[in-house]
Amino acid sequence: MPRPIHAIIHLDALRRNLARARAAAPDARVWAVVKANAYGHGIERVFEALRGADGFALLDLAEAERVRAMGWRGPILLLEGVFEARDLELCSRLNLWHVVHCEQQIDMLALHKTHQPHRVFLKMNSGMNRLGFIPHRFRAAWTRLNALPQVDEISLMTHFSDADGERGIAAQAATFAVVTQDLPGERSLSNSAATLRFAGESIRNGQGCLPVSADWIRPGIALYGSAPDFPEHDITHWDLQPAMTLSSRIIGTQELVAGDCVGYGSGFQASAPMRIGVVACGYADGYPRVAPTGTPVLVNGVRTRTVGRVSMDMITVDLGPLQQAGVDVGFGSEVTLWGHGPRGGLLSIDEVAHAAGTVGYELMCALAPRVGVMAAP
Ligand SMILES: Cc1ncc(COP(=O)(O)O)c(C=O)c1O
Repeated sequence: MPRPIHAIIHLDALRRNLARARAAAPDARVWAVVKANAYGHGIERVFEALRGADGFALLDLAEAERVRAMGWRGPILLLEGVFEARDLELCSRLNLWHVVHCEQQIDMLALHKTHQPHRVFLKMNSGMNRLGFIPHRFRAAWTRLNALPQVDEISLMTHFSDADGERGIAAQAATFAVVTQDLPGERSLSNSAATLRFAGESIRNGQGCLPVSADWIRPGIALYGSAPDFPEHDITHWDLQPAMTLSSRIIGTQELVAGDCVGYGSGFQASAPMRIGVVACGYADGYPRVAPTGTPVLVNGVRTRTVGRVSMDMITVDLGPLQQAGVDVGFGSEVTLWGHGPRGGLLSIDEVAHAAGTVGYELMCALAPRVGVMAAP
């Protein structure tokens, strides 16, 4: 028998979260961001549930091939564009739209032989200082691209650094709106946080207003049921549902007396008699090793906490709250590391990530290959 740990991908939640993103920006088309193997959920697994999107955005060419192999004929956008000249051949062959963020990518396009001009998204670095043309080089890049026979339509995009935080999007959005005001083409600005928090707003430029939702939104994390601005807001606030449940079972119990320690480094010491459960889940499954004592977990749907260090294949949990609630617990009891538990229990991945000093994105992407995954309708 395999170890009792497994992940379930909730297709219905993906569909609902997609509808939620669309409702936040009803006039925009939606790129479903499925990079990093759909944030760890599996591109093939999420495909049917997300095919109601207007396009798929990702960055690995092999992943783009997988989306086409599933029969998707609509738009696919390479969020980082091409990495080398021969990638353009695949773009031509599979009709991939691609981001252009630097002069080298324009150089490669200028040398590319194709009968089919490419649709490109010209990216502005409006302040994040990752990829993109800085504002005063942006128009020159547009002019260069526009002169190429290899280029069909040019869309305009930028990416926000602080859509989920206090700084917000105002300064970057204003820079983008002003620099692009008289350029033709569709626009795309908003990730999940910008969509959920600001999609109804508009940015003034010299000629009028640019809606933050623009022509295309690019939600990723919201589709998977994680709140982009946790802990300020949680998934209930944004009406999102977890798309992944990670669950396992208790494979042993221990009765501790005061002074007993638990796990490597004796990382937890009992101050009174207590019962703990040993769970088949460790950092080799993708559970964060840095999760401290007190990280929330559900056992038989009842919320309790981890105690002691996370080891490669096991974690240990406090069974006290179950005893207090009169809930039977022992060998084989169901443990929810995140997602949906029995008896209506819900533990968002954001809470676990927050306790471990990280974000839901990292935990979903880190789900280890040894964990079996199944899809639930
Ligand atoms: C360019 C771009 N657009 C959209 C997204 C989706 O962001 P999120 O998952 O925060 O919605 C990302 C993710 O990092 C991105 O790099």
